[in-house]
Amino acid sequence: MRVVVVGAGTGVGKTHVACALAAALVRRGQPLTARKPVESGYDEPVSDAAALARAALHPTITPTFALAEPVSPHRAARRAGLTIDLEPIRASWSGDSATLVESAGGLLSPLAPGLTNLDLAAAVEPDVVVLVVANRLGALHDVRACTMALATRALDTRVLVALSEPAARDAATEHNAEELEALGWAVRVVEFPRALLEDGSTCAAAESLAEFVLAARP
Ligand SMILES: Nc1ncnc2c1ncn2[C@@H]1O[C@H](COP(=O)(O)OP(=O)(O)OP(=O)(O)O)[C@@H](O)[C@H]1O
Ligand SMILES: [Mg+2]
Repeated sequence: MRVVVVGAGTGVGKTHVACALAAALVRRGQPLTARKPVESGYDEPVSDAAALARAALHPTITPTFALAEPVSPHRAARRAGLTIDLEPIRASWSGDSATLVESAGGLLSPLAPGLTNLDLAAAVEPDVVVLVVANRLGALHDVRACTMALATRALDTRVLVALSEPAARDAATEHNAEELEALGWAVRVVEFPRALLEDGSTCAAAESLAEFVLAARP
């Protein structure tokens, strides 16, 4: 089973959703390795990689590219004298029986010249793409822009949208899910309310997402 979690932007809730989903899958008897292969602003004890590992109940896996500067991965890598490339990243998950990968930043954020998170997502060869979008005005555009980008890699037919509630709700927050369902731009839309990971409402959203992920297993 392979799942990739991508976002319409940075800070939209990818780690929040990925952790909730990983925990739900483990609760349902599907162990997995949760990875963040590229992480900028990497600070060991408080990293996304550590949060994912906690949720999936395994030791932290240091990102293949653990970059200190909190800027776009391609810039952080360049400034560290590195070039991000997919080969060592692919090798990192090649032995996993089930993998969940969180990408770094937005779907089209650059990783290196000619390389974006879209390439990383395609490299996962995912059964499911979880697209995390902030549940606010603009979410419909964000979903369409990302699904069109995913379509260029034939990944648009396996998209589950997770609408993550931002700190401030707006006039669209309440309606985005039903509008997306009506537009038919995603196989499934799941709303993640503004709540702690352990909260029952987050767990319920994650269970719903997990159900679809498990159904898509090869
Ligand atoms: N639905 C939510 N409920 C509560 N907090 C949330 C929710 N979504 C996001 N957050 C919080 O917002 C902040 C940013 O979310 P998160 O770290 O998950 O974003 P991200 O897309 O993973 O960011 P990055 O691009 O840096 O990896 C975090 O503090 C997270 O806990
Ligand atoms: Mg994150």
